[in-house]
Amino acid sequence: MDPAAVDPLAVRYLVTWTAPADLLRYRNLEIVFSIGAGVDQFKLDSLPQKVKLVRMVEDGIIRMMQEYATLAVLMLHRNLPTYLDQQKKQIWRSILQKQTPDLNVGVLGLGTLGKAVLERLKPFGFMLSGWSRSPHEIDGVNCYHGQQKLRPFLEKVHILICLLPLTEETRGFLNSKLFAALPPGAGLVHTGRGPQLDHEALIEALDSGHLSGAVIDVTDPEPLPPAHAFWSHPKIILTPHVASVTQAETAAQAVIDNIKRNRAGLDPIGLVDRTRGY
Ligand code: NDP
Ligand code: OXD
Repeated sequence: MDPAAVDPLAVRYLVTWTAPADLLRYRNLEIVFSIGAGVDQFKLDSLPQKVKLVRMVEDGIIRMMQEYATLAVLMLHRNLPTYLDQQKKQIWRSILQKQTPDLNVGVLGLGTLGKAVLERLKPFGFMLSGWSRSPHEIDGVNCYHGQQKLRPFLEKVHILICLLPLTEETRGFLNSKLFAALPPGAGLVHTGRGPQLDHEALIEALDSGHLSGAVIDVTDPEPLPPAHAFWSHPKIILTPHVASVTQAETAAQAVIDNIKRNRAGLDPIGLVDRTRGY
C-alpha cells in the first residue's frame, strides 16, 4: 500500500526500526513497535509522552541469540581462535582442554535474551552466573546485581557475554577496568551494542595475554573501517551484527498479541521504561 494513501489520523500503531521524521503527523498514534530488541536507535525525548515504545520480544530473535551465544561460548571454551590461527600457519599443536564444570560463564544483562542464553547453556554443565541492575532469581544461576556486586561477579567469570542494552550507563562499559577484573585467560562474547566496547582496551587485554579470545558481533562503527585491528586479530572472531535477527512471522505475531493486550487495557510485553532507557 502506498504510504501516501494512508490517512495519518487513522494510524494507531507503527512498526519501525527508528522514528520517522514525520512521526508527529500520526496524531492518534498509541504504540511505536521497535523492529529490534534494542531501542537505542530512537531518540526517546522526541517521542510524544503519550506514545508507548515497545522493544521486540519474539521467539525468533530469542532462538537465534541462544544459538549464537552457545556457538561463541563453545568456540572460546574449545580454543577455536587459537586453532584457526594455527591452521593458517600449519601448526598441529593441542592445548590442554579445560572441562565445563570448571568454567564459569557469566552474562551481563538478565533480560529476555540474557536469561534465554543461560537456559540454553545449562546442559553443557558450565557454572553459570549473571549480573543485572535489579535482583533476579534463576534456577542454577548465581545472580548478582548492582554496581557493588559487579566486581565479585567479574572475578569469577571465565567467559563473559555482554547482553546489556545501550544506555548512558552502559556506553563504554567493556573497558580496561572491567577486563582487569576478569581472571587471566578469560574470553569475551560481545552481542550487546558497539558503543559499549572500548576497542583499544580489548586489543590491549588480548595482546597482553590477559584475555584469551573474543567473539565480537557488534562494533562502533558498523562496518569497521578497512584498517581496523579487529579484522585480522588472531584472537578475535568477528561477525557483522548477525547474532540475532528479528524473524518476520514470529515478530508479526508478537505485535498482534501486543495490540490485543493494548486493546484489553494491558501493558504491552517489552514496554520501554523511558527513565531507564531500555
Ligand atoms: P532487556 O531489556 O530484556 O534486558 C536488559 C537487561 O540488562 C536487564 O536484565 C537489565 O537489568 C540489564 N541492565 C540494563 N542496564 C543495566 C545497568 N546499567 N546495569 C546493570 N544491568 C543493566 O533486553 P534484551 O535481553 O531483550 O536485549 C538486550 C540487548 O541485546 C538489546 O538491548 C540489544 O542491544 C542487544 N541485541 C543484540 C542483537 C545482536 O544481533 N547483536 C540482537 C538483539 C538484541 P534489570 O533486569 O535489572 O532491568
Ligand atoms: C536488535 C538487533 O536489537 O538486531 O534486535 O541488534
